[in-house]
Amino acid sequence: MDARSGRSAEPARADDADRRALAADLRACRAATLALFARVPAALFKAQVHPAYSPLGWHLGHIAYTEALWLLDGGGAVTTPALARAFAVDGLAKADRVGIPEAPSVLDYVARVRQGILARLADPATAVDLPLWRFVLQHEAQHAETATFLLALGARGEDAAEIAPASRPLDYVAVPGGLAAIGHDGVDAADNERDAHAVELQSFALARHPVTQSQFAAFMANGGYRRPELWSREGWAWRDAQAITRPLHWRKGAPDHPVAGVSAHEAEAFCRWAGVRLPTEFEWEHAARNLVVSAECGNLGGVQLGTTPVGHFPGGRSADGADDLFGNVWEWTASTFAPYPGFRPWPYEGYSQAWFDGRHRVLRGGSWATRSFALRRSFRNWYVPETRQIFAGFRPARDLEEPMS
Ligand code: AVJ
Ligand code: FE
Repeated sequence: MDARSGRSAEPARADDADRRALAADLRACRAATLALFARVPAALFKAQVHPAYSPLGWHLGHIAYTEALWLLDGGGAVTTPALARAFAVDGLAKADRVGIPEAPSVLDYVARVRQGILARLADPATAVDLPLWRFVLQHEAQHAETATFLLALGARGEDAAEIAPASRPLDYVAVPGGLAAIGHDGVDAADNERDAHAVELQSFALARHPVTQSQFAAFMANGGYRRPELWSREGWAWRDAQAITRPLHWRKGAPDHPVAGVSAHEAEAFCRWAGVRLPTEFEWEHAARNLVVSAECGNLGGVQLGTTPVGHFPGGRSADGADDLFGNVWEWTASTFAPYPGFRPWPYEGYSQAWFDGRHRVLRGGSWATRSFALRRSFRNWYVPETRQIFAGFRPARDLEEPMS
């Protein structure tokens, strides 16, 4: 087994076509990251906009540090001990990260690491461990998404806009059961997507699109945030302590946008109110069985700078007629984040294994801020249920009274 990638006897070596595709994706990903940080006001770069998260600028430095750590032999000459301390996960405590270097010097580090790895990629004598490079690319995309929601939180004014409750009931499509193909063995697979395996599922009904703001407004107007009987015990205790009365990323004049900025507790309370449930992560993955992520299949990649009305991407319609499975908002599932059969930690234990703690929940499908090379039908995101800073909504499911033939 390769000590570094921990995957197979022979790490997948990139051929010329792989290297070209990788270079193009690295370039596109970095352009988006630099464009995102160009929108960060100077006063926000080192500020901690939320106590649970590092300052925005830390994510940029950590992107470069991680790239150097894995692709430049543990940091390379460009990573000084001070930079390593500033940007390693096990360096400074989150609250001390307000002391990171200023933006121009972080950007300089970012550029120098990138120069180093591109030189390697261009040198045919250097072996390129393709899964590891693809991991680093996705790592950048994931931290860029975190920076995107931190920027949204930092820039947020009070927006308690009233949205008229929808009269339209939730609309469901029938999803046939059977043996569902779960997980992914490809070169871009995360450790937690392996091993690919089959799971037997019953037929079920799945909401045609994620719950919209106007549909969620009906729950609010019906006392949703004031009725403990709609909430789990844990969810109500959290709601009560935090005095939560509406979704975090509530948006004016957008009734048909999916609700965003809800915790799993709010998603579950809505489902109990509507007499339905959240889908399992396997039901979600099976519902998307005919879909491959692309720009045509949803609001992805941060292009729109926010959510868009549901049902506007015919390229993303599932075999059963569900829309918006990819992009717009992450969707909470009923599933706890847990290893698949055959799981082995890669490229380090802290990536997934540390979060198999029975508390983290799986989210599927990506948001408007998720980049396509970091998203797949099999991709599993994970957060604790009370998280509402991320661009997350949900899509209810229910059992079918009559099993489909
Ligand atoms: C997959 C988004 C939950 O950002 O917390 C980045 C990914 N792990 N660096 C996160 C991750 C280490 C992770 N999520
Ligand atoms: Fe990271």
